Amino acid sequence: MNLREKYGQWGIILGATEGVGKAFCEKIASGGMNVVMVGRREEMLKELGKEISDKYGVEHLVIKADFADSRSVDKIFEQTRELDMGFMSYVACFHTFGKLQDTPWEKHEQMINVNVITFLKCFYHYMGIFSKQDRGAVINVASLTGISSSPYNAQYGAGKSYILKLTEAVACEAAKTNVDVEVITLGTTITPSLLKNLPGGPAGEAVMKSALTPEECVNEAFENLGKTFSVIAGEHNKKNVQDWKANHTADEYITYMGSFYEK
Ligand SMILES: NC(=O)c1ccc[n+]([C@@H]2O[C@H](COP(=O)([O-])OP(=O)(O)OC[C@H]3O[C@@H](n4cnc5c(N)ncnc54)[C@H](OP(=O)(O)O)[C@@H]3O)[C@@H](O)[C@H]2O)c1
Repeated sequence: MNLREKYGQWGIILGATEGVGKAFCEKIASGGMNVVMVGRREEMLKELGKEISDKYGVEHLVIKADFADSRSVDKIFEQTRELDMGFMSYVACFHTFGKLQDTPWEKHEQMINVNVITFLKCFYHYMGIFSKQDRGAVINVASLTGISSSPYNAQYGAGKSYILKLTEAVACEAAKTNVDVEVITLGTTITPSLLKNLPGGPAGEAVMKSALTPEECVNEAFENLGKTFSVIAGEHNKKNVQDWKANHTADEYITYMGSFYEK
């Protein structure tokens, strides 16, 4: 699909350096869009930007920002003000593991900023632009933890639930316009961040069995863009959610999700 013709010249990936964010950068560049790439590791982003420009013949702009401080995105809005923006995806996330009260308060503040406040600020900003020009698309990234709840990773799961529910509602609000909005819910996805946090032993092996690549997830998101408000990535994850909802109580589902990280 020529994304540039449909949505505009530039797209922004918030959390672009590796994993799912990197796959989003490649996808929109392959659809002809120039890419604004945001993350904390500027050198890695510059290398990736060069690779993408060489491979797809598009422009790129790297902006260094840490979403743990929601004011960090003001400079992104300023630097993209004159660009013909047509796509946004908020990919970055932050999580810690442990019981709610055992997690230092500063970590909770960082989590709520990365997963909720900065996300909302970016979504609000670019939806304003897309809605005014009646053209554009947003794909936000949620997690199965946002469907089930996520013991020992509780605030992260709640944040993902926020992204899921907010994006679904806004997708419906935009349905009669030329702005396509969608949320993709991911299960286990093979990213550098997952590989660092994977539980050991049988729990880790079990989650890897159904793991998808970032490219598979991003392709599925784009296949469904403009067709549905919300998609769960991969047949295995879809079937699992249906099965849990049909055959188990909510308590059983939550306990199962907690079993991965219970010490
Ligand atoms: N991997 C999975 O199994 C899985 C499962 C379910 C849902 N998801 C969702 O999929 C998305 C991507 O997952 P992932 O594993 O690729 O995540 P990730 O590596 O933790 O984050 C993706 C990108 O976001 C950037 N980022 C992280 N924190 C940031 C911050 N404070 N400020 C600015 N940029 C930041 C990182 O680059 P820098 O380090 O350079 O900033 C990285 O490139 C997340 O929304 C996650 O919730 C993933």
